[in-house]
Amino acid sequence: MPVFDSVTDPASPASAVSTAAVIEIPASASCFEIEGLSLAYGDTPALENLTLRVPRQRVTAFIGPSGCGKTTLLRALNRLHDLNDEVRRQGHIHLEGQEIHAPEVEVAELRRRVGMVFQTPNPFPMSIYENVAFGLRLQAPLKKRQRDEMIEWALRSAALWDEVKDRLHDSAWSLSGGQQQRLVIARTLAVEPEVLLLDEPASALDPISTLKIEELIRSLKSRLTLILVTHNMQQAARVSDYTAFLHAGELVEYAATDALFTNPRLAQTENYITGRMV
Ligand SMILES: Nc1ncnc2c1ncn2[C@@H]1O[C@H](COP(=O)(O)OP(=O)(O)OP(=O)(O)O)[C@@H](O)[C@H]1O
Ligand SMILES: [Mg+2]
Repeated sequence: MPVFDSVTDPASPASAVSTAAVIEIPASASCFEIEGLSLAYGDTPALENLTLRVPRQRVTAFIGPSGCGKTTLLRALNRLHDLNDEVRRQGHIHLEGQEIHAPEVEVAELRRRVGMVFQTPNPFPMSIYENVAFGLRLQAPLKKRQRDEMIEWALRSAALWDEVKDRLHDSAWSLSGGQQQRLVIARTLAVEPEVLLLDEPASALDPISTLKIEELIRSLKSRLTLILVTHNMQQAARVSDYTAFLHAGELVEYAATDALFTNPRLAQTENYITGRMV
């Protein structure tokens, strides 16, 4: 995929406040275009004038120290902040060219297109089958056979089918943590999203389950755009194509993952990825 690397010119007036090194993904290859996004909780700023494009059908990692705004940014991408009256936002977010805050955008449909998986697996208190059927039931009615097929497809896509095919009607809570997280991913995939937002999806999991989630992320990018928030630098390096480093609500460096980890442009990035800044 062709990319154009543009680094803020140190001589330009804008760089007096911003010294970010940001790769520019072509608009035609972008799924999300985020432009001048600032967000505050009441008077407390959380995101400051972020501008970046997220490439389609790639894995993009958001990294940065605790409190730098990673979750805030993910939640902005499917308008989860709508539920919080305190939140003030400026700037634009386009999904496939459409402003997600435009009046004609239906939030439920946006959230179907942009699924989110959280740090702690949150299966619903129902069977494995019903968890995956949940989103499907909110859509157009399906015949049982079609629904069964979709459920099998979603569980296979989430690399869980073989482990649960003989116990679909057991409680979701009877699954291990790693299986529960893959079930939640299956539930999200069942409604055929275009984007999957993953907020530290493996941080509560053992190393084997973590590897399964990482394999899953890699396998899904042939059909989805994935955005992964992680505190694990090795994980970002293993699974992502692009990495954005945020600090104190600002985008510091955004680059192809190999470049960012082997040859960071900015000392601030290097300090973070080598563990000298937390
Ligand atoms: N609901 C909220 N109300 C008020 N402030 C909030 C809220 N959620 C987050 N914040 C603040 O916004 C800033 C960014 O928080 P955010 O959760 O996005 O960080 P993060 O990068 O995801 O951190 P972590 O790595 O610890 O998950 C922090 O200063 C946090 O205290
Ligand atoms: Mg977070």
